[in-house]
Amino acid sequence: MTLAQWMALFMLALFTPIEVASAGSGGNELSQRLGSGNPVAGKEKSDAGRCQECHGVDGNSGDTRIPNHAGQYAGYLAKQLSDFQAGARQHTVMSVMAEDLDAADIADIAAYFAAQKPMRGRDGIGNASARRLFVNGDASREIKPCAECHGKNGEGRVSGDGGTVYPVLGGQRKAYLRSQLVSWKLGERHNSPDGVMNEVAKRLNEDDIDALADYLSGLQPP
Ligand code: HEC
Ligand code: HEC
Repeated sequence: MTLAQWMALFMLALFTPIEVASAGSGGNELSQRLGSGNPVAGKEKSDAGRCQECHGVDGNSGDTRIPNHAGQYAGYLAKQLSDFQAGARQHTVMSVMAEDLDAADIADIAAYFAAQKPMRGRDGIGNASARRLFVNGDASREIKPCAECHGKNGEGRVSGDGGTVYPVLGGQRKAYLRSQLVSWKLGERHNSPDGVMNEVAKRLNEDDIDALADYLSGLQPP
């Protein structure tokens, strides 16, 4: 999607939040991306030293350890916030930050970040062996292709039945990606459906993880 298209979608989201929310079922990429929240309310709710301070006003963080949310699927962001609240995912800062949010806050804040111009990596090139691993997997080590779930350019998607959201990885922050792959591998993070990411990450070695984090953080999904 071009920048102009995203701007148009964002304006649409700003001025017609109710229609966007009720556009509902199937096929509508924008409603899939934004979920049911109101991005205008979400802008205010995430302001005031709350979320934007770390995750950026436009959803791009200023620190490689802090994830970008720009253009991330709202359903994915909302799931993570509920998981932090429930203790299914743990992090010293985020477990506290998520504590006081109610369901409407979560939906609105997630919609606000989802509506931002999607995160973009620095160069879009990257290491060829990491690309091969991401796109094709490695059958000899029983590593599934990451791209099968996360999309060829790490652009993410929502499953056909709408139940699973595969997050955007292309253009995500490098140290953050690395830390998540390590914690999936060690089983410290264990909130993916059916433990799928633990299964994937435990087959990756340190070099794979470094190369994938470097590769993904450089991607520029179309
Ligand atoms: C002091 C900095 C800080 C603040 C303020 C903060 N976050 Fe975070 N956030 C982080 C860090 C660091 C992580 C990475 C956690 C990890 O490593 O597991 C994170 C992770 C997340 C994630 C998971 C993203 C992913 O890709 O899985 C979500 C969603 C999130 N934050 C939303 C919020 C929201 C909403 C607020 C405001 C209510 C907020 N954050 C406030 C630092 C912050
Ligand atoms: C069978 C599907 C599947 C495959 C294959 C897969 N993933 Fe995932 N991945 C997921 C799902 C689903 C999530 C979201 C988990 C959640 O809801 O917390 C995820 C989450 C992640 C995250 C966390 C993103 C964030 O913002 O915190 C990273 C990083 C990741 N995957 C990298 C990879 C890499 C690298 C590969 C290949 C080596 C891979 N994944 C293969 C399904 C998959």
